[in-house]
This record gives sequence, structure tokens and C-alpha cells, in this order.
Amino acid sequence: MDEQMGQIEIQNIGKHYLNNRKSPRSSQDHDVLQGGKIDVLNNIDLEMDDGDMTCFLGPSGCGKTTLLRIIAGFEKPTKGNVYINSKPVTHPDASCIFVFQQSGLLPWMTVKENVGLGVRKLKSDEEKNSRIQEYLEIVELEGFEEHYPHQLSGGMRRRAELARALVINPGMLIMDEPFTGLDFMTHMKMREEVVNMHEYFKKTTIVVTHDIDDALIMGDRIVIFSERPSTIKFDKKIDFPRPRNFERHPELNKLRSELYFMLGVPYAV
Ligand SMILES: Nc1ncnc2c1ncn2[C@@H]1O[C@H](COP(=O)(O)OP(=O)(O)OP(=O)(O)O)[C@@H](O)[C@H]1O
Ligand SMILES: [Mg+2]
Repeated sequence: MDEQMGQIEIQNIGKHYLNNRKSPRSSQDHDVLQGGKIDVLNNIDLEMDDGDMTCFLGPSGCGKTTLLRIIAGFEKPTKGNVYINSKPVTHPDASCIFVFQQSGLLPWMTVKENVGLGVRKLKSDEEKNSRIQEYLEIVELEGFEEHYPHQLSGGMRRRAELARALVINPGMLIMDEPFTGLDFMTHMKMREEVVNMHEYFKKTTIVVTHDIDDALIMGDRIVIFSERPSTIKFDKKIDFPRPRNFERHPELNKLRSELYFMLGVPYAV
């Protein structure tokens, strides 16, 4: 299988939406509806190296999902360009970018069939089956091949979805709040799994999270966006060795307090 690269260049991206609504959706929208126009992203410049995991943080509604959709080719920017491996993004390309969704599994297909969607282009059944099995083992779902999504726990469903993403071997992975709705322990376990997976596969990965600790434990880099119209407010490489631990790395703890403060919480809890 060819090794896919995942180098991303975001150049001067701007995005506004034209809104035809007569009245704002919420009182918060009053200040941003100027003649029905919502300015979301403003002059975003970012370069992401192949293999890096970058975590995006920022207030709700600042445009993180919009930026991910632009990178993945689902949405056109109002200005600027995105280049993946030096080629401009014009449309979605699943072999290049896989967007990890919270409920991306097809409910009428078994785990094996869902993961198999990623290898349907392979000719031999033997090769398909061995790839599916390999990835189900990686996410510790062996024995659940014939289960349907509704027969799995929330954490198992996310792991199946992760296997489905990785089996495609895309150049990069995009994860928009991948741990939302998981209980605390499943969240911790799944986070560890994503970190291990990243250490192993070294895919270029973007993770949007509202959880500062997730970003500090996972990211090779943390990017924080401002309120809308969003600009980059903070951008830092995080090169602490993994597995990371706040007690073992006082510097990480210090950065944690700074980020909490920056995001409007006066002290880290
Ligand atoms: N298709 C659309 N049409 C009009 N406005 C939109 C559209 N999609 C998003 N928006 C607006 O763009 C802004 C940014 O939305 P976006 O979903 O990117 O925010 P976000 O940072 O991902 O927020 P959250 O953290 O809550 O997920 C919001 O004000 C939203 O209302
Ligand atoms: Mg979002």
C-alpha cells in the first residue's frame, strides 16, 4: 500500500456566511449579523507537518468545524486556499482525508462490514479479511465482528469507527470532538488509544476539543482560536515525551494553567 502523505497548508483563509434570516437565532448573534453576514474566519494561516497531531481549541461558535470542513473540501472558503501535499483542495477526497464522526457507522451493517467499507477496493477477499481483522485487533474489537453498532457500547462504537478510518490508510485524520458524550473512564481510555495509534501510525491528525487536558496530553501542537471572527490567538509546539503526565512534567502543568486562563477560566481545576 502506498504511504499517503499529509502535509497541510492553510493560506489566508477567510469565511463568512450570508444569512437570510430576518431575526437572529440567538441574542448572541445580534452583534455579528451585519446585513445578514456572519464573519466566521479571518486571515487564518497555518502549516501542518506530515505526521503531526494538532489540537484546535476555541470558544463555541468560533469556526473550528467550519475550518475542518474547508480543509476536508466540504466547504469553500470565501477567500484564501488550502493545499494538501502542495495541491489545492477542491473537493472531498476520502482516500486523502478521513473525517472521524461520532456516529459514522452504518447501523444496518455489522462491525466487520462497516470496517470492510474502507477496503472494498481490494480485489481478494483474503486480503480484505486479513486487513479488517488486523485493524479490529488494533482497536481491541476482535470477537465483535458480527455485532451491529447498536449491540456495542459507546466506546466500542468509537473504536470501530477508528478502525474504519485507519484501515483506509488516509494521509490524514480529522476528528471533531471525538470524545463528546463518552463517560470519564471511556474518554480516558479512548484518548490513550488515539495517542498510541498516533505514535504507531504517525498520521497527520487534527483534533478539535473543548478539553484543555486532551489537547495537552495528545497534541504535538496546540492552536487556540479567538472569538468570531476567528483569528489564531495562540500556537505552540508541545514536545513533552509521551505518555504525558501533569505531575511528572511541572512545565506541562504550568502551561495548563496558562491555557485555562487564556480560555477564560481563572484557575485550573
Ligand atoms: N451553513 C451555515 N450557514 C450559516 N452559518 C453557519 C453555517 N455553518 C456554521 N455557521 C455559523 O458559523 C459559526 C461557526 O460555526 P462552527 O460550527 O464552525 O463553530 P465551532 O467553533 O465548531 O463551534 P462548536 O465548538 O460549538 O462546535 C457559527 O456562528 C455558526 O452559526
Ligand atoms: Mg464544532
